[in-house]
Amino acid sequence: MAPLAARPRVFVTRALPGSAPAELLGAAADVDTWEGEEPPPPASLLERSAGCDGLLTMLTDRVDGALLDACPTVRVVANMAVGYDNVDVAAATERGVLVTNTPGVLTETTADLAFALLLASARRIAEGEAAVRAGAWGPWQPSWLLGREVAGATLGIVGPGRIGAAVARRGQGFGMRVLYSGRRDAPEFPGMRVPLDVLLETSDFVSVHVPLSEDTATMFNDEAFRRMKRTATFINTSRGGVVDQPALARALHEGTIAAAALDVTTPEPLPPDAPLLSAPNLLVTPHVGSATGATRERMAALAVEGLLAGLGSERPQHLVNPAAWERRR
Ligand code: GLV
Ligand code: GLV
Repeated sequence: MAPLAARPRVFVTRALPGSAPAELLGAAADVDTWEGEEPPPPASLLERSAGCDGLLTMLTDRVDGALLDACPTVRVVANMAVGYDNVDVAAATERGVLVTNTPGVLTETTADLAFALLLASARRIAEGEAAVRAGAWGPWQPSWLLGREVAGATLGIVGPGRIGAAVARRGQGFGMRVLYSGRRDAPEFPGMRVPLDVLLETSDFVSVHVPLSEDTATMFNDEAFRRMKRTATFINTSRGGVVDQPALARALHEGTIAAAALDVTTPEPLPPDAPLLSAPNLLVTPHVGSATGATRERMAALAVEGLLAGLGSERPQHLVNPAAWERRR
């Protein structure tokens, strides 16, 4: 990594996991780290970013044109996530601000969680556990807590990126038939490409791995759920915004689909009285797709690398907006 001319100032919006990433950053920059466990409120984000050269942000921090205008010295935004829908990338590009993300290092971990949700939903793990603790475990019954078969079932992957492919490999290992749909052909993908409609109509488990964008927002709506089998399970570990959540609640209440397992919702956190939570056959985890110590530390290290590269005038490896490189601040 090229040495930095002067010590840049950076704002880090949450304490970084592990000690190595923070040490690496601290050796090269003057670091201001948000002390709260909750995200900085927008006013604090703005105040603490002012005068900084770079920001290390989380998916909970909204970075938009107004923030970048108020902080004209900010040259790099390193988002500690693979998804970057919290950053207005077009606004950053216009202003010559580099945006980086952390792909690759969380692929297997997130795929594990998606598959854990698939298995847990299919085999009704949460219901069974709750029954044990509630004293509802009676003598063994031939017809109690019957779930859905995984082996031999069809797994439909929507979004054949790295994480989608990693979930597909898990599906193959469990004896599933794997289909995928995406805008482009993915020749290496472990499964067969079909149009989205066909995937929805034929899959027993539909797992979503698309980024949230204008194109994908609420793509899982009433029509999509109606296309799915009545016995289908819907799994979402991408972003809550790809789902029309009232439509999902209706689909579960009306039995349009059999079950859903979500790691992401709208909003996050999902309040305990959210209407969605009254839907049957629903499993929700609190956005923990990448949540292992090792993975979070790798994400932090990659975010620090991206930040320091951009600040040191080196083209970051995981630059989300290559167009910004030509007009960088
Ligand atoms: C987590 O949701 C991420 O995008 O890394
Ligand atoms: C993320 O890394 C993806 O491409 O799915």
